[in-house]
Amino acid sequence: MVDKYLFYALCLAAIVYLKSVSISDFALLSLYSRQSLTSSYCRFTKSHDNLPVERDFHINCAAIAREDPSTSKLLELKLLRARKEKKIISSSWHDEAFTHFIRANKCAKFVNERNYVMHSVSKEEEDFPLAYSFVVHKDAGQVERLLRALYRPQNVYCIHVDQKSASAFYNALQDMASCLPNVFLASKREDVVYASYSRLQADLNCMEELLQHRVQWKYLINVCGQDFPLKTNREMVTHLRYNYPNNEIESFILPGTKRSRYSMHWEITKSDKGEYDRIPSMTATKKADPPTNMTFFGGSAYLVATREFIDWSLHNETIKSIFEWSRDTFSPDEMIWASIARMRGAPGFRHPHIKWDLNELQSLTRVVKWHSFEDIAQVPENERVYPKCHGYHKRTICVYGTGDVGWLLRQKHFFANKFDPNYDDFAVQCLEKILRDREVVDACTAT
Ligand SMILES: *[C@@H]1O[C@H](CO)[C@@H](O)[C@H](O)[C@H]1NC(C)=O
Ligand SMILES: *[C@@H]1O[C@H](CO)[C@@H](O)[C@H](O)[C@H]1NC(C)=O
Repeated sequence: MVDKYLFYALCLAAIVYLKSVSISDFALLSLYSRQSLTSSYCRFTKSHDNLPVERDFHINCAAIAREDPSTSKLLELKLLRARKEKKIISSSWHDEAFTHFIRANKCAKFVNERNYVMHSVSKEEEDFPLAYSFVVHKDAGQVERLLRALYRPQNVYCIHVDQKSASAFYNALQDMASCLPNVFLASKREDVVYASYSRLQADLNCMEELLQHRVQWKYLINVCGQDFPLKTNREMVTHLRYNYPNNEIESFILPGTKRSRYSMHWEITKSDKGEYDRIPSMTATKKADPPTNMTFFGGSAYLVATREFIDWSLHNETIKSIFEWSRDTFSPDEMIWASIARMRGAPGFRHPHIKWDLNELQSLTRVVKWHSFEDIAQVPENERVYPKCHGYHKRTICVYGTGDVGWLLRQKHFFANKFDPNYDDFAVQCLEKILRDREVVDACTAT
């Protein structure tokens, strides 16, 4: 791309020279200095700035980012009309499309067609690799868009595919992984049941393989299919470099209402609604105390943690016994990371005092909009902590619409949850475009 323009510029300069029309010294100087200041990082990045977004819809992402109400209203109407006509506007590929495309073409074509960044964008990022653990079960197209947004060849990515996922989904991800260096599928697969230990085990499987991988990553981030980043790789790396050896782990005193999750024995019950509806239910049996004197904290399944913290979590004998003990609890993932991060001896230890608590709005990992804290009539005025959701709600969490993007872009968090391109593709498209543009500006203004 850039080479082509350079070629045109040189041709033009030659024509101008041949016709003996004088060019001001200033123009020549600026042409020259622009070339020499353009680093290889900038040139590489620019060659990838043409993401396949906005092709058919002429979306004005700049207006979306400014929260221009008429622009998002217009897009919402477009989506509404499409849904009424039972048409899905989505730029994601279907599960089978990946396998067809990759098997019919070469990987180079896939990587090119999907505009992957196949070079590191800066020296800083090259020297600070990240590891990702993906726990996913459906919609290869959405997973691929998340992967594409995060993919940089110096990082490493483990994808855990649910044991019960369709084979088309598994094949799509396997074919995709075969095209991208440092992307692999977890070799040990779990049958993931919502809120059970299997959810945690899926991450642990990836974490173990990531620790074995030759990429000496500095921090690990875990994501699910409905997440999308709000920051570029460079922005995350810059933050983490200066904050090492701290972890970003949500952790606060466990509310009394959640005590029974970890004091009683829970069992996975069968559901007649189908495999995906299974959930642990509480029994009347009290659990024995944990193997070590520990305080329970509440938090999230998602974390941003140093290599040292992950290694300690997986291999320290005391911590291993806590993981074992938690197998029959409800949502151990929302307690374990939060609790062990506050234990003395934890790499990046955070004192258990309340002053060191972090909830999901204070921690950087992930921003979610809970229905009960939105600025809407049914919420008491003093509880309205963020604007209303522009999409729909799933398990009382907002699935973002285009109208949420401007607000999201002003948050400090690395990621936002949840997105659904089958419902509102424009929200994801704009984040894709805005992040890629920001990366180009960063790469090309650095000296
Ligand atoms: C457990 O820890 C608490 C708080 O640090 C302490 O008060 C208590 O004595 C400890 N119990 C045992 C059995 O060590
Ligand atoms: C394991 O972690 C515990 C809790 O932080 C610590 O007391 C213990 O020394 C660690 N064990 C080893 C072998 O490092």
